Amino acid sequence: MSVIPRAGNGKVTVPDILSRKSHLSTEQGQTHSRITCLTAYDYPTARLLDEAGVDILLVGDSLGMVVLGYENTLPVTMEEMLHHTRAVRRGTRRALVVADMPYGSYHAELEESLRNAVRFVKEAGAEAVKLEGGEKRLELIARLVEAEIPVMGHIGLTPQSVHTLGGFKVQGKTVEAAEQLLRDAQSVEAAGAFAIVLESVPRELAARITQQLRIPTIGIGAGPECDGQVLVFHDLVGLTQGTVPKFARRYANLAEAIARAAGEYCEDVRSGRFPSDEQSFHLSAEVRDRLRA
Ligand code: KIV
Repeated sequence: MSVIPRAGNGKVTVPDILSRKSHLSTEQGQTHSRITCLTAYDYPTARLLDEAGVDILLVGDSLGMVVLGYENTLPVTMEEMLHHTRAVRRGTRRALVVADMPYGSYHAELEESLRNAVRFVKEAGAEAVKLEGGEKRLELIARLVEAEIPVMGHIGLTPQSVHTLGGFKVQGKTVEAAEQLLRDAQSVEAAGAFAIVLESVPRELAARITQQLRIPTIGIGAGPECDGQVLVFHDLVGLTQGTVPKFARRYANLAEAIARAAGEYCEDVRSGRFPSDEQSFHLSAEVRDRLRA
């Protein structure tokens, strides 16, 4: 597998992410800025985000919705995730590359789940995997960690449970649901995960979980008290088709820029303005003369 050589200094590793737990580093007299994470699904985007200094590139199974056009993340396959993870790996030097385990790849036998996780590391160059679920994933997370695969947990709104949850809804809003999320977070930590995504969780609850855990929390729709933040790249740059979640902030409008560029190109081709002489190749004078003769 051809991979861009790693930058020696500044490469983000799993221990680096662990050391950036905000309240622990503050207690130890260090101040760390919050962890930045964005999804990436292809080589050019990975290069741009890596060069921009994003700490973690998550090859999220959200690619099913924002890149492949599926209705939800459930149809995404191992082969699709491996293909995109390889592309991101090739474009990344500094960031930690985390691959999302797709629905069905870790829901049956423990050993099959382990084999699937190993494929991300061995065949695609991922440095960690992410999987959804709390208490019920304790044994699986521990098994992967034992096999030297760093694991990022993911609780709250877990999109692979969309049918069980009845839609993409904020989680942990009742006392019982909040207590369950606290137990889920503790289980993920106890199993050995190095970080945990909190998705669509009330700010106060995410703050409490962040305070209680020794591993960093990475929030998405979970308020500013988390140790880091993650967003789906397409939401960030205005490429998402359809509804954008309330928690996303758009920093650019690439959809508009692309539509404008494509529209201008069509007009130029139709009217003969493109290509011009500038975009054309020429015969040498000698060849031109010989052709004329
Ligand atoms: O699949 C994904 O992109 C994710 C993030 C939104 C956390 O799981």
